[in-house]
Amino acid sequence: MKRPERASGRTCTNKTLLYLFIGLCIAMLCSAFLYWHYVNEVLSLTVVLADTVKNIYTDGTSLLLDTLRLNKTESNHGPTTRRPGSGNVTTLGKVPTTKKRTEAPPRPPTDRPDNCEVCFKHDFNYVLDNDQICARNDKSPEIDVVILIFTVHQNRLQRDTIRNTWLTYAKNNSLDSNIRYAFLLGATSDSNMNKKVKEEFDVFKDILKEDFKDAYSNLTYKTMMAYKWASTKCKDAKFVMKTDDDMYVNIPNILKTLNTNKDKLQTHVGGACHQVAQPIRDHRSKWYASKRSFPGSHYPGFCSGTGYVTSMNVATKVFEVSKHVPFFHLEDVYVAICIKKLGYKLLSIPNFNAGRFAADPCIYQGNSMMTSHQVPPDMMKKMWFGKCKKNA
Ligand SMILES: *[C@@H]1O[C@H](CO)[C@@H](O)[C@H](O)[C@H]1NC(C)=O
Ligand SMILES: *[C@@H]1O[C@H](CO)[C@@H](O)[C@H](O)[C@H]1NC(C)=O
Ligand SMILES: *[C@@H]1O[C@H](CO)[C@@H](O)[C@H](O)[C@H]1NC(C)=O
Ligand SMILES: *[C@@H]1O[C@H](CO)[C@@H](O)[C@H](O)[C@H]1NC(C)=O
Repeated sequence: MKRPERASGRTCTNKTLLYLFIGLCIAMLCSAFLYWHYVNEVLSLTVVLADTVKNIYTDGTSLLLDTLRLNKTESNHGPTTRRPGSGNVTTLGKVPTTKKRTEAPPRPPTDRPDNCEVCFKHDFNYVLDNDQICARNDKSPEIDVVILIFTVHQNRLQRDTIRNTWLTYAKNNSLDSNIRYAFLLGATSDSNMNKKVKEEFDVFKDILKEDFKDAYSNLTYKTMMAYKWASTKCKDAKFVMKTDDDMYVNIPNILKTLNTNKDKLQTHVGGACHQVAQPIRDHRSKWYASKRSFPGSHYPGFCSGTGYVTSMNVATKVFEVSKHVPFFHLEDVYVAICIKKLGYKLLSIPNFNAGRFAADPCIYQGNSMMTSHQVPPDMMKKMWFGKCKKNA
């Protein structure tokens, strides 16, 4: 009698334990689900935040994003991976796309006007200008190249570093220099920055500034400003180079290649060019292009805005034709659209690197490197002042 009772008592305890266990399991599942849900929320919030941050153009964020990409760029794109004429291999820095995107069915040829009557106005006014940058006297050599460097107000350190390193070949734009240069700015409402840049201008007289708002999506205005200024205030220069303030440019090598390609450059823009390129439709990308801004499925290629060269002839023609070419916010693609309209072409020149060469002074001081991207000031100094051990 007692045994069964005890037995049933044990069964009862066992059952209770089982229910408890099942209950616990359910509770765990529920909390796991809740946790998963929460994590998801946080993740998507992070993505949204990241997008927002990315969309806000401040130098800080773009610098941060650039920095985060540095290691990848360097390890993937050392000098050995660059081959002459690899223009259509879209793997470097400023590149529309290599990824195949799973997009809706192929679209028919679209109606983005390639042509229009004075539809792109860029008649902004100079806020800062020095029309003596390209001045010459009887003893002056010919101006081989004018280098126009895109910058933003807060990048004083970058400008100073460039002035003291690879730009010293320009000899402060003196009358006996065959190389002239200017830094290009748009407008900002930050009065402190305006004041500081004005002071910098008073010292170096090497800054050009127009009254369009400086923003990443306004870079095409800056490019038009560059071509306008070059073709009106520096028309004696034989060649024009556009580059950025995070670039290392080996000027002697640039001069050599300008000379080698002097005839071609009368009808070409040269640099790290991609003959084949597609718009990026992912709005999280820095190079996003909406279907509205560019309905076509392919760009007419482009030469990476990190550094490209052309003749004064082409620069002048691009500026003239641009008034009839609708605005597009990616300046290097916009230039290629103008080039195509003029019946000109893009010329891939080896060693214009839209990525970054390995941090080796022998490369930066060697006789083949043209440009290297995302070179921060401290690295710039090391590459300029550092000794190349192989040659020592
Ligand atoms: C690059 O990677 C190294 C380690 O491999 C790390 O210490 C460094 O901070 C990274 N630099 C950047 C700019 O991400
Ligand atoms: C890239 O260009 C080479 C010739 O320079 C050509 O053979 C190749 O098909 C091109 N690749 C693409 C993807 O267009
Ligand atoms: C350029 O100007 C700086 C100071 O502004 C001066 O130190 C340097 O010697 C000048 N360089 C030349 C080549 O005149
Ligand atoms: C581009 O510049 C124009 C003219 O200053 C300005 O109206 C516009 O807001 C700017 N775009 C951006 C994104 O700031």
